[in-house]
Amino acid sequence: MSKKRVLVLLGPNLNLVGIREKGVYGDESAESIEKQIREEADKLGYVCDVYQSNWEGALIDKIHEAREQYDGVVLNAGALTHYSYSLRDAIASVKIPFIETHMSNVHAREDFRHTTVIGSVCAGQISGFGKYSYFLALAALKNLMK
Ligand code: DQA
Repeated sequence: MSKKRVLVLLGPNLNLVGIREKGVYGDESAESIEKQIREEADKLGYVCDVYQSNWEGALIDKIHEAREQYDGVVLNAGALTHYSYSLRDAIASVKIPFIETHMSNVHAREDFRHTTVIGSVCAGQISGFGKYSYFLALAALKNLMK
């Protein structure tokens, strides 16, 4: 059986993890976390790409590409989670499973973070476990990918 292809898609400001709001996101660098995401994906037997952009349109283009190129997506859309209908519609256009993922517990933070406009088109949400949110999301995909 060929390996499942997984995309870990990261939105605005997630390149600054380790630098930004350390009390919320910790002090481990984005690069170090990305390396561990790749290692976890490898252990699970996936082929994995990690892509980060601060641009909504670039994320949408990547989601369109995912239609042909991946079996599942771990998505931390950053603040776009809370208001981007364009991102929501892009996810809804693609038949593969998406896991909405957050490092922080968005439900324990400001009110605007309690809203997700992408949640209803994702298979589920993982929130609050720091870098482990990504590892849990990778594991969650295992039983969802066709
Ligand atoms: C985040 C939570 C979002 O509310 C925030 O805008 C982010 C990161 C998280 O990983 O906890 O940029 O998605």
